[in-house]
Amino acid sequence: MKNTFLLVLVLITQISFAQQDSSLPLIPRPNEITLQKGCFKLSETTQYYLEDKSLLKELDFFIAYIKKNNGFTISETKNPKQKNIIKVLKRKSKENSEAYGLTILQDQISIKGDSNGVFYACQTLIQLVNARRSNAVDLACLIVNDAPVYRWRGMHLDVCRHFFSVSFVKKYIDILALYKFNTFHWHLTDDQGWRIQIKKYPKLTEIGGWRKGTMVGKYDDHMYDTIRYGGFYTQAEIKEVVAYAQQKHITIVPEIEMPGHAVAAISAYPYLSCKGKQIDVERGWGVFEDVFCPKDSTFKFLEDVLSEVLELFPGKYIHIGGDECPKENWKKCEHCQMLIKKEHLKDENGLQSYFINRIEKFVNSKGRQIIGWDEILEGGLAPNASVMSWRGTEGGIAAARQKHYAVMSPGKPCYFDHYQSREILYEPLSIGGYNPIDSVYAYNPMPGVLDTAERNYILGAQANVWTEYILNEKHLEYMLVPRMCALSEVLWTEKSNKNYPDFIKRLKQHTKLFDQLQVNYAKHFLTQK
Ligand code: ACM
Ligand code: ZN
Repeated sequence: MKNTFLLVLVLITQISFAQQDSSLPLIPRPNEITLQKGCFKLSETTQYYLEDKSLLKELDFFIAYIKKNNGFTISETKNPKQKNIIKVLKRKSKENSEAYGLTILQDQISIKGDSNGVFYACQTLIQLVNARRSNAVDLACLIVNDAPVYRWRGMHLDVCRHFFSVSFVKKYIDILALYKFNTFHWHLTDDQGWRIQIKKYPKLTEIGGWRKGTMVGKYDDHMYDTIRYGGFYTQAEIKEVVAYAQQKHITIVPEIEMPGHAVAAISAYPYLSCKGKQIDVERGWGVFEDVFCPKDSTFKFLEDVLSEVLELFPGKYIHIGGDECPKENWKKCEHCQMLIKKEHLKDENGLQSYFINRIEKFVNSKGRQIIGWDEILEGGLAPNASVMSWRGTEGGIAAARQKHYAVMSPGKPCYFDHYQSREILYEPLSIGGYNPIDSVYAYNPMPGVLDTAERNYILGAQANVWTEYILNEKHLEYMLVPRMCALSEVLWTEKSNKNYPDFIKRLKQHTKLFDQLQVNYAKHFLTQK
């Protein structure tokens, strides 16, 4: 009888823990989480202890959050034995440098990890406090052992079709960091605007940064306004954003498009194209025939540009575009045809491959790697290139089979410029497509057809935010949040720990955080179960 009673008690306790577990407002869901009895009272009497001073910059994000949100300061103590303490211990994980441990007991919180891990533990803590604005917060006791499934957890932003300010880009990075993304793909050059200052070629931003008007409304209407539109980031601003992202453990991958999507560059320096004719920065959307001509003067220009870009962005990868390059002008260009013969190339696809190979050699010579859209597979992949698979998953699969790294970013469901509801009359005009939040959540970046060795080449995934039809910050936030929350769990959490109804339950608790960040999130999920 006594045993039965105990068994029932244990079961009840476990059930209630399980319920509490799913109601913890954590996204992405940690991979190992066990609830304990009791809670830790976080208040102005709580102090922190650092085993290693270098980790203060990570813990500071939590301290600053509490100061802003709850109005009290957590001060330092030198005594690790003290009660009511947040203890930060530097521990390197052999398996995963992004791993962390977080233990909340009644008398102490302990965080273990390397700098990445401590940063992620702090994001988890911020989510646990989750906009509860009292001057003391009860945190349920728990043990978390957590590490991400994927190495590349990315979000992309196109600042060419519509321009976004430095302060907004920082806000974008804030949102990414809160959901444990580690890569920001910054699409900086395109037909409709060149957005990064290059000191050796000032016309890129003086001329290439501005267009005479912009397509308005649906593509098929072919309507344009006549308002001069543009903008660019100075190198000082770029440095500021790179440093800001670094503090938040986010690597920026800059994209300099070539050989296509080059109209803005050609408008500034017409000699870069086959025809050498003066053209205007594009006002409309699409794919355009004026592309870089693979002549020595073009390569000189691109190497100069990339040299400045490499100085500004310290990460391993430079994105060189490579997508949607029409070959019409190359077919008619004497130089291009001569080069195909001279280099014994098969055709214009071979010439595109030659182009990317030559750029790769240059980037590799500076100790960096290139990544490009999946068209760079056509005509032969450059020896060390990584591939971003956007036209479905085939490009990523082909790359992995050739022992090249790949990032999965298929239009379905990773294009966040697509509609998120079928009721499009109630949605802002979009480029098309349909990627609702449940389809993002259900996405599995690992192609089932790959064998174990090939799977190692799938770095992760990212979602892309192209801005042809995204006109301003509020609109962009609406397309981004909460679909990126769903993607964060796809990238961080083991498949066996994922559960859509549970995710929606947790997401509903994040609205307080969204409001606090002043993020204009899409609200379709509020009526989902
Ligand atoms: C792309 O969407 N053109 C990569
Ligand atoms: Zn040419």
